[in-house]
Amino acid sequence: MAKLWGGRFQKNTDAKVDDFNSSIRFDKRMYAQDIKGSIAHAKMLGKQGIISQEDSDKIVAGLKEILSEIEAGKVEFLIDAEDIHMNIEKLLTDKIGESGKRLHTGRSRNDQVALDIRMYLMDETDEISQMLKELMTALVTLAKQHTETIMPGYTHLQKAQPVTLAHHLMAYFEMAKRDLDRLKDCKKRTNVMPLGSGALAGTTYPLDREFVADELGFAAVSQNSLDGVSDRDFAIELAGCLSIIMMHLSRFCEELILWSSHEFSFVEMDDAYSTGSSIMPQKKNPDVAELIRGKTGRVYGHLMGLLTTMKGIPLAYNKDMQEDKEPIFDAIDTVKLCLPVFCDMITTMKINDKNMLKGAKGGFTNATDVADYLVKKGMPFRDAHAVVGKLVFYAISKDKSLDELTLSEFKEFSDIIDNDIYDAISMETCVNGRTVIGGPAKTTVLKAISEAEQYLETL
Ligand code: ARG
Repeated sequence: MAKLWGGRFQKNTDAKVDDFNSSIRFDKRMYAQDIKGSIAHAKMLGKQGIISQEDSDKIVAGLKEILSEIEAGKVEFLIDAEDIHMNIEKLLTDKIGESGKRLHTGRSRNDQVALDIRMYLMDETDEISQMLKELMTALVTLAKQHTETIMPGYTHLQKAQPVTLAHHLMAYFEMAKRDLDRLKDCKKRTNVMPLGSGALAGTTYPLDREFVADELGFAAVSQNSLDGVSDRDFAIELAGCLSIIMMHLSRFCEELILWSSHEFSFVEMDDAYSTGSSIMPQKKNPDVAELIRGKTGRVYGHLMGLLTTMKGIPLAYNKDMQEDKEPIFDAIDTVKLCLPVFCDMITTMKINDKNMLKGAKGGFTNATDVADYLVKKGMPFRDAHAVVGKLVFYAISKDKSLDELTLSEFKEFSDIIDNDIYDAISMETCVNGRTVIGGPAKTTVLKAISEAEQYLETL
């Protein structure tokens, strides 16, 4: 097949090079953005009198037909036509003849691809934001049911202080909220229209760049033609946002994997969200959570890949930049695969609140509260800390928890301890006394939940 750029060449490209050079395999997914961009460009060319209104109308009609043909599965893209841009231009020219050849006036594939990928990434950002919103809704719904489900909170993976499952879930809500915010912020910098940058140095045609930006719904036009064609910061930023989303999912998955172990038994994954072993008949494995944790590495890899691809590229466009697509596309696909499956996994899992409470009661999670009890009776905190340290050491030697010690045992360590100690260090008091903003007390978490619901309403 003759190349659109074949004029200067005496020989055909080697078939291996056609294959090597071609990006249609992966950039065909930008067909809708490419067509939309071309329609806006053609309209502008007509409006500016750069091509005739008749040509412009023919191009627009032809492109619309091509869009529905692609959507109906009637189009086969050609490796020989290299990429989505030239495939569509060829389809157009085959369809409408001469007028189709005027579409590329005042445009280069360099600014065209920059436009397409920005539009594509913004569309995907919206979809991912919607999925995040669904996850946040699921977290809030679950949290509402568990404001009294006491579980141990950990530091260093050692039992620390009691919290509730609702509080734990709402921590992930906060993370998802930041994720959403980051996507919104990244979209601001993606929302810049590069068409008109030409190959690198703009164009002599009197393009109306603002018109094209308006047609396509862009917030601004790029301000430097070299940067317009060579900027891929927005793709790297998005890969960063996606990496952080995966990091959050992965942390939760790691917890769920631990929690569904026999040793913890805090949760049990639904049968529909677990898998068995080919040899060990008793097994029920949290494969979904493990796979999400595993796929996180893949998304991080794409971020690093993109950064590395871009790091040595002189201005302006270089073909290296064709390598931006597969990583960012795969990062998007991976996140879109993980978010809904994660959401369903957590909404279907069984929560073993008895074991969570049992877990909270062990490991002296109320030791700080014993110290706080002494402080409320007048003892300086540092002294109280030392007294309770000794109490814990003693309780370990007796194989008792703190609330199992008798009053006379308590009094050996401090005679200001009275019978009210037992109430003061019950799991419920420990949790519900922590009413500080951001704390795990039921009243505080309910407030956080209602604020979260209000926030979700605004989205
Ligand atoms: N397929 C190319 C890409 O993805 C389009 C731009 C090609 N430009 C060029 N001058 N070869 O980057």
